[in-house]
Amino acid sequence: MTILVIGESGQLARSLAQAASENGIALATAGRPKLDLLDADTVAAAIKDMRPSAVINAAAYTAVDKAETEVDAAFAINAHAVEHLALACAKADIPLLHISTDYVFDGSKSQPYVETDAVSPINAYGRSKLAGEQLLRAAHRKHVILRTAWVYSPYGNNFLKTMLRVGATRREVTVVDDQRGSPTYAPHLASALLAIAHRVCNGNPDELWGTYHTTGCGEATWCQFAQEIFDIGREHGLNLGTAVPITTSQYPTPARRPANSRLDNALLQQRFGVKLPDWRVGARECIAQLINA
Ligand SMILES: NC(=O)c1ccc[n+]([C@@H]2O[C@H](COP(=O)([O-])OP(=O)(O)OC[C@H]3O[C@@H](n4cnc5c(N)ncnc54)[C@H](OP(=O)(O)O)[C@@H]3O)[C@@H](O)[C@H]2O)c1
Repeated sequence: MTILVIGESGQLARSLAQAASENGIALATAGRPKLDLLDADTVAAAIKDMRPSAVINAAAYTAVDKAETEVDAAFAINAHAVEHLALACAKADIPLLHISTDYVFDGSKSQPYVETDAVSPINAYGRSKLAGEQLLRAAHRKHVILRTAWVYSPYGNNFLKTMLRVGATRREVTVVDDQRGSPTYAPHLASALLAIAHRVCNGNPDELWGTYHTTGCGEATWCQFAQEIFDIGREHGLNLGTAVPITTSQYPTPARRPANSRLDNALLQQRFGVKLPDWRVGARECIAQLINA
């Protein structure tokens, strides 16, 4: 099994490369400038030349606030480029594993969202990712869409790294406490993706194509996530502040965010036997890795 990952420098692409090398899985990443997802011909040529067993799309336009004013750019990468990628995978008759988001929902549900719940994104990024899901489903039957949320890792920019940086300079850090979700450690998501890729490349996967919710176990508000980061950091001897709860209205951002980002992962576990570890386990691993680096 050879896997082609679209995207190279992002949190998930780097976690996939790391997990594959640790597990002896043949995996190649392809990202800008060599491979631009917006260039449909280059993408199709890469798939034709490399003849992978499966493709994982880890590339996306992920600047949630900027997307409000760069709607075309967000749709170009998150929707139209995904359709071209799906068509190339359909032509090669190989599975495409694609990552989507909790932001396809409006957050008004009181329970965790299941895959069949009505979608209704409340920001441009969410609308672009939803369009990507829809175009992919229409273009290629052999797909697995994994909706994830609140991704953090030792790589790139993310909430955990921001909190370690900001917490080191302030005694009190105000953090939104009325949005609830499941922080997802990118290396845990990467391991899940590799297991899913293995499963759909072997045996009879016809029952498995579809959309799945894939987040870390457990849940938290952003403020609780921040406090856990500070507590773990202190165990490592870091001098960090305290998280002080505020409301979303006290922290206005260009893009609205759902109050409830929790995703029910039961279907993933039932169909693939895959369950991500608790987000606190990931937070511990991530902070230890950052401190030891
Ligand atoms: N981060 C989250 O909290 C979160 C939450 C829910 C869902 N997701 C989804 O999870 C997936 C992985 O996210 P992530 O956190 O790993 O994102 P990330 O760290 O922001 O990385 C995004 C990657 O996409 C690449 N990319 C963007 N445009 C490209 C293009 N035209 N051609 C090739 N590569 C391109 C970027 O490459 P450059 O370095 O060249 O820009 C970067 O490597 C995405 O589908 C995202 O929508 C993320």
